[in-house]
Amino acid sequence: PLIRLEDYRPPAHLLDRVELVFTLAPEATRVRARLHLAPNPARAAEGPRDLRLDGRLLRLVSATIDGAAIPANALVVDDEGLTVDAAHVPDAPFVWEAETEIAPEANTALEGLYMSKGMYCTQCEAQGFRKITFYPDRPDVMARFRVRVEGEAPVLLSNGNLIASGEGWAEWEDPFPKPSYLFALVAGDLRAVEDRFTTRSGREVLLQIWVRPGDEDRCGYAMDALKRSMKWDEDAYGREYDLDRFMIVAVDDFNMGAMENKGLNVFNSRYVLASPETATDADYKSIETIIAHEYFHNWTGNRITCRDWFQLCLKEGLTVFRDQQFSADQRSAAVKRIEDVIRLRGAQFREDGGPLAHPVRPEEYVEINNFYTATVYEKGAEVIGMLRRLVGPETYRAALDLYFERHDGQACTIEDWIRVFEDASGRDLAQFKLWYSQSGTPRLAAEETWRDGRYTLRLSQSLPPTPGQPVKKHMLIPVAYGLVGSDGREIDAGLIELAGASREVSWELPERPTASLLREFSAPVILQRNLGAKDRAFLLAHDSDTFNKWEAGRGAALEAIATLAGDARAEVDAEYLAALATVADDATLDPAFKALLLGLPSEEEVIGHVAGKGGVPDPTRIHAAREALTLLTAEALGDRVEALYAANAVTGPYAPDAAAAGRRALRARALALITARDPEARAARAQFDSADNMTERMTALTLLVAHGAGAEALARFFANWRDDRLVVDKWFTVQAAHTPPEAAAETVARLTEHPDFEWRNPNRFRSVIGTFAMANPAGFHRADGAGYALFIDWMTRLDPVNPQTAARLTASLGNWRLFDARRRTLLRGQLERLAALQGLSRDTGEIVSRLLRDD
Ligand code: ARG
Ligand code: ZN
Repeated sequence: PLIRLEDYRPPAHLLDRVELVFTLAPEATRVRARLHLAPNPARAAEGPRDLRLDGRLLRLVSATIDGAAIPANALVVDDEGLTVDAAHVPDAPFVWEAETEIAPEANTALEGLYMSKGMYCTQCEAQGFRKITFYPDRPDVMARFRVRVEGEAPVLLSNGNLIASGEGWAEWEDPFPKPSYLFALVAGDLRAVEDRFTTRSGREVLLQIWVRPGDEDRCGYAMDALKRSMKWDEDAYGREYDLDRFMIVAVDDFNMGAMENKGLNVFNSRYVLASPETATDADYKSIETIIAHEYFHNWTGNRITCRDWFQLCLKEGLTVFRDQQFSADQRSAAVKRIEDVIRLRGAQFREDGGPLAHPVRPEEYVEINNFYTATVYEKGAEVIGMLRRLVGPETYRAALDLYFERHDGQACTIEDWIRVFEDASGRDLAQFKLWYSQSGTPRLAAEETWRDGRYTLRLSQSLPPTPGQPVKKHMLIPVAYGLVGSDGREIDAGLIELAGASREVSWELPERPTASLLREFSAPVILQRNLGAKDRAFLLAHDSDTFNKWEAGRGAALEAIATLAGDARAEVDAEYLAALATVADDATLDPAFKALLLGLPSEEEVIGHVAGKGGVPDPTRIHAAREALTLLTAEALGDRVEALYAANAVTGPYAPDAAAAGRRALRARALALITARDPEARAARAQFDSADNMTERMTALTLLVAHGAGAEALARFFANWRDDRLVVDKWFTVQAAHTPPEAAAETVARLTEHPDFEWRNPNRFRSVIGTFAMANPAGFHRADGAGYALFIDWMTRLDPVNPQTAARLTASLGNWRLFDARRRTLLRGQLERLAALQGLSRDTGEIVSRLLRDD
């Protein structure tokens, strides 16, 4: 059934306290629940009403209301829950007691209570709690939880503070009312790495990272990131931690990145565990970001939560924005902004430009798990960045203070959020709010004229139709700009708010300026502008805005690859290549930034670029064209690449800090350019042999695999690391992503037959099948359709076992309509095959039907 925002109604019953007793056993866990319920006064006018509780895949053993049995004909259980007839439900506070039985070991969907290598753990967001016990499983029902866990495992954890424990049991109490999606339970043979943090008001907090025995020495970086996050949230947002302990658990089988359960965050182990030998700079960076993200949820998500799941961006967009600010502060803000935009354009623009497009606040869904998307998260964060820019940083902070003060302890909506900004700024934000309801990526066109000493900039917007939204209203688009003089000096800079169809601004100037538009990527739009090669090279050399300096080069690279894909003998803009040489020589640039300037867009990004200009992208030719541009760049840079490679060696023991990682990134770029000129890939081989850390080893291995020269290195790598599951994931990933296109489908098919391809483990499945579909476009989109068939075969296999992960991966086909008629026919055939699968899950079913819908 379709769930709609407009159908929202307050809950019929509210909860005050919940008491849960778990008696753990893999095949038959007993859950006793006491719910202290009361009729919701907001619905008093209705008088007595049915008690409706959500519940799925539960065996109900017994149930009472106020201690009395409920007549059999008054209690009806269905697939989604149970209903007690109003005649048997008190019109005053009452106690519901029930005992249910569940089988965590049989739970392969990894939602609710399940097992991962002998350890019990839970994932309840969004609607997993209803697989644990019958409950009003919706975020606007908040309650204080007291949990007793009984079991053989040496460690028994739940949310909040430990109040008592003994042999085989532990009792936990969480003083903060919370919705059920924030509930967590973990039990197993675990070890804690401990530390302490003192909040600025003097609260002593015990910090624990719980891992499996043997992983204790890989928690140092996560712990460090946690302490920095706690401090940062105090400094930047005035937010302090509120319990006596904060726990993180690392779990190997996890459908997502991590989960912010109150006081007991559960993490995919890949975002906790790191050592120089096993983790790359990129892994360290993700750990820092995700630890911060989950910690920041304690205020934006937990203390203030969402009224209903349509409001998901209220907590996710804001928390992503906060983790981006944190990482920008901890590392380089310039580099971070570029990385965030690359990510946005990769995943979100793809979503927004195809059949899966939906607003930042969706208005309908079949399965809410399908809406944990780049649009809700990443575009949701962009919307907050725009708000901050429009009201200014001081007013932003005042609005946030007001938000925390006004809404602490509540379940809120986007309307509440917008209102604090209106109250703090005195501005009417009704038009701005369209960013939450209109889907699709706006196009911003810029036209410039220069006549009689007058420079005129005309900005106009257009909003392409998206599913269910054929016509749209004009958005409020903040356009940060600068005008640069021919000597490189800044003539003017500021912010233009484009609110209508178009707007003109002009300046009297002694010379024609070069405009730098949409600085810092001030709005998530596609800028359409005829920027000549000269102006591009000029901005690449002179723009003081680091984002647009990079963007100028990126635009030139995209054009060059698109042109080469159309005609392999086309000329590449010489000014661009010359500008890259200037960049390589510029000793003032931060190495991490320089690595980005010298890097190329991914094939995926080129596909989006070509399609955005109305063309039909050919992944095979785009792959070849990108390789060709790499070689041209290497030739244009000449000896500089060897010099960069030598000059950026990092000596001493490996450290994951931004400066060292930046040098390694630049050195990796240099190695790629060196390798482009050498069919033997000697330098990459040498680096693979000598590397003393995983970052440099993976850089080399990636290049060897991409050159079709990886066999021997892959064998050695596997032999060395076969017992380390996170490293083995990398071994699978590098082959699925970088095997040359002609051989990729066969390689992936072979990998799926490898004894270590434990396909029920989401990380392992994603490392092969997800990587192939998302990171190897030329291999995946091979013209004979072999990639498509293989991918859908695996979706049909995964869906009955783990619908959430199957649906997520299926959604990676969001851009399938961009390709040529032949590929589209093949893709449609495969999607229809999946749609016809007997017993297809609601999750995957919704994605496939949206992918196939025609409008
Ligand atoms: N709230 C979690 C986070 O953003 C993610 C939960 C994802 N849940 C889901 N059903 N996909 O940190
Ligand atoms: Zn989140």
